[in-house]
Amino acid sequence: MILFKKAADITAWLLKSKTAGKKIGFIPTMGALHPGHISLIKASKKAGSISVCSIFVNPAQFNDAKDFDNYPSTIEKDIDALEKAGCDILFLPSVSEMYPAGTGNAKTYNLGYLETVLEGKYRPGHFQGVCLVVHRLLNIIPADDLYLGQKDYQQCMVIKKLVELENINTTIHICPTLRETSGLAMSSRNMRLTEESQKQALKIFETLSYLKNNSKPGNLTALKQTAIDNLTNAGFKVNYIEIADAGNLDIINHWDGNSKLVAVAAAFLGEVRLIDNMLL
Ligand code: PAF
Repeated sequence: MILFKKAADITAWLLKSKTAGKKIGFIPTMGALHPGHISLIKASKKAGSISVCSIFVNPAQFNDAKDFDNYPSTIEKDIDALEKAGCDILFLPSVSEMYPAGTGNAKTYNLGYLETVLEGKYRPGHFQGVCLVVHRLLNIIPADDLYLGQKDYQQCMVIKKLVELENINTTIHICPTLRETSGLAMSSRNMRLTEESQKQALKIFETLSYLKNNSKPGNLTALKQTAIDNLTNAGFKVNYIEIADAGNLDIINHWDGNSKLVAVAAAFLGEVRLIDNMLL
């Protein structure tokens, strides 16, 4: 695996490979890698692409300074896992390399409705920060394909919108959420959970499964309330549990039985905020 820290160096190297007819698959991450990330590297390798992973804990997307300070960092282990997975290139930039002019005058992306609901509502500015960093990364890494995990359902939609808005010639691939055998969605933030709270955390998966098994055409409000009560009684501070249209995240209170739905949840277990979703 080749490690690059400078934007100009990796861009020059990748442009040469592209000229030689190679495809580039890109997996952006914030490190603290788990098998979910590795499955994205594998998907890119399967497509026969040069696989590029970036590790950058992006300060611009943290609406909560404590969350940024506590974000796990396991760089030695990450490098080892990437080597084992056969990743070709790691981009490991500094903040000044990513934002040489700072982020004070950063552009604003017109994300519309997507930024006003669910994660957008509870994490103001978060998706602007995600767009800023992914846009910058895609300027540095001329990716043909970008691999993202379905666990961040709304983020996947936001990045699709970014690519559309900025006319970026990159195809987005959304790969399934990897789960522990208990059902708990793999997440870098799980590293901050004690063994006891990891067990408690799988209640989110159980609650989403409950919504999946019990959603019927008609009014969904009572069902959603039961789900919120279940998680609250299990010791979570719930931000939201919602059933939404899987295509545009419109909140669905009354289901016609036809539209495709997704159940989405965000809740704090102690200081750790967990999110998950399930297509119904
Ligand atoms: O999902 C993440 O880890 C981040 O939001 C991303 C896409 C790497 C941008 O910083």
